[in-house]
Amino acid sequence: MNTGEVLLRLSGVIKRFPGVLALDGVQLEVKAGDVHGLTGENGAGKSTLIKILAGAYSPDQGEIEFDGLRLSHMTPIKAMGLGIACIYQELNLIPHLTVVENIFLGRELYLSRPFGILDRGKMLAEAEALLKDLQLSLDVKTRTGDLGIGHQQMVEICKAVHSNAKLIIMDEPTSSLSEHEAEDLFRIIAQVKAKGVTVIFISHRLDEVKRICDRVTVLRDGRLVETRDIKDASVDEIIRLMVGREIVNKYPKMRRERGQEALSVKGLARRGVLHDISFTAYTGEILGFAGLVGAGRTETARAITGADPLDAGIIKVFGKEIRIKSPRDSIDAGIAFLTEDRKSQGLILIKSVSFNSSIVGLERYTKFGFLQLKAIRKMTEKMAADLQLRAPSVETVVGQLSGGNQQKVVIAKWLLTKARIFIFDEPTRGIDVGAKVEVYNLMNELVKNGAAVIIICSEMDEAMGMADRIIVMHEGRITAEFSQSEATQENILYAASGIVDKAAARPA
Ligand SMILES: Nc1ncnc2c1ncn2[C@@H]1O[C@H](COP(=O)(O)OP(=O)(O)OP(=O)(O)O)[C@@H](O)[C@H]1O
Ligand SMILES: [Mg+2]
Repeated sequence: MNTGEVLLRLSGVIKRFPGVLALDGVQLEVKAGDVHGLTGENGAGKSTLIKILAGAYSPDQGEIEFDGLRLSHMTPIKAMGLGIACIYQELNLIPHLTVVENIFLGRELYLSRPFGILDRGKMLAEAEALLKDLQLSLDVKTRTGDLGIGHQQMVEICKAVHSNAKLIIMDEPTSSLSEHEAEDLFRIIAQVKAKGVTVIFISHRLDEVKRICDRVTVLRDGRLVETRDIKDASVDEIIRLMVGREIVNKYPKMRRERGQEALSVKGLARRGVLHDISFTAYTGEILGFAGLVGAGRTETARAITGADPLDAGIIKVFGKEIRIKSPRDSIDAGIAFLTEDRKSQGLILIKSVSFNSSIVGLERYTKFGFLQLKAIRKMTEKMAADLQLRAPSVETVVGQLSGGNQQKVVIAKWLLTKARIFIFDEPTRGIDVGAKVEVYNLMNELVKNGAAVIIICSEMDEAMGMADRIIVMHEGRITAEFSQSEATQENILYAASGIVDKAAARPA
């Protein structure tokens, strides 16, 4: 198919889930050779749409044409055979297999097929050539489970390219990547595009959409709002199409007086990971942690909250030294830790929204040993409304929510505890622009009510927009501290790369 012709056409596609009309008559055209952006609020139907294309869900109604063929009764295997490859929000590699094995999974090369003898040498050579072609330096013999998220994603892309995919769909590929890894990804997208592959790129990061896409489609409430050439759409316009209104202030920072010392950390150390971490968080203040992925920010939070052991260090909560040996100790001390990895640490996917949001704060809802289900439900409903949670009800099973809405449940869970120190690790990852503002408003609310808030953010704008002070980390050490007025993209970046004179940047 020639560049510019329509490779994929959806007409009148409808998909219902119990209580939810996830797609409501979607008409979409994707041109061959384009990088086509797909965006929209949490729960707008983006993932559902691509799961239909990948054969994971079947539509209730509507037609799909791909590469001149009318598709019906799709299955994941059929989709693969047709050249549609999908890289999901949750990656799908098999962790104990090596990179080569994953790339060739389901398409192994044999020396002798009847005897099941694999041609390992040839697979190895082909995989190496493929990686070289895409300018990736990765050892193809590593187990993919040992690779970082960024590299795992690269392996998924290699797999797609190797299967001669005509269309590669990526569902929020950059949400868990560092800036550096994201740059690698964009380079590879440009490379596969140059080979004539079409890409559908889903993202909440509109600056990325603007930068790498040729056209963009906005979905709202399961309907296609508009498809535009990227040159005719500014970021602000895309936001307006997404949320149906203008967002005037992306960072609604409210300033408060600094209050008392809430969390003070001195000389925190973990061999090989953290070195001499000292800082203080005050009530009335949002303290930001900036740095590159892997700088030790999450590790610091994990060490403080008892998720990882410590080798040295003193932790004081409201002036009192505490010993934290397990996450329970830190919850009891009034520290809430909202983890970045909702799947493995945050949520029980087969349980309801209200169950998940009340598990940490359960003692608050217990009377004479009985759970006060009504009170739980009421609180959860209020929280759900505040966070604009998109779910049929608070009894909905969390696993059925869209990615961003699951993230909101993690937030709700911790807000419902009696904590006075909140550590948010990448709280707005995967959350749409409108809901982000709600999360920031909730942080303001917490601060107003006498809490100390710490946010770990990879997006520098977020740190600069919301934090009163910013601590920058590099390779397990604190390299700088800036007040909001001192902080600039440039000096944060320098400190994050370790290029800074610590004494000068952080007066005692
Ligand atoms: N398996 C399922 N069962 C029930 N409802 C579902 C299921 N999958 C998705 N939904 C619902 O369909 C709607 C669309 O969800 P979808 O995951 O497509 O949103 P999304 O646009 O990808 O959002 P996000 O940006 O948060 O990832 C949501 O209301 C969601 O709760
Ligand atoms: Mg999604």
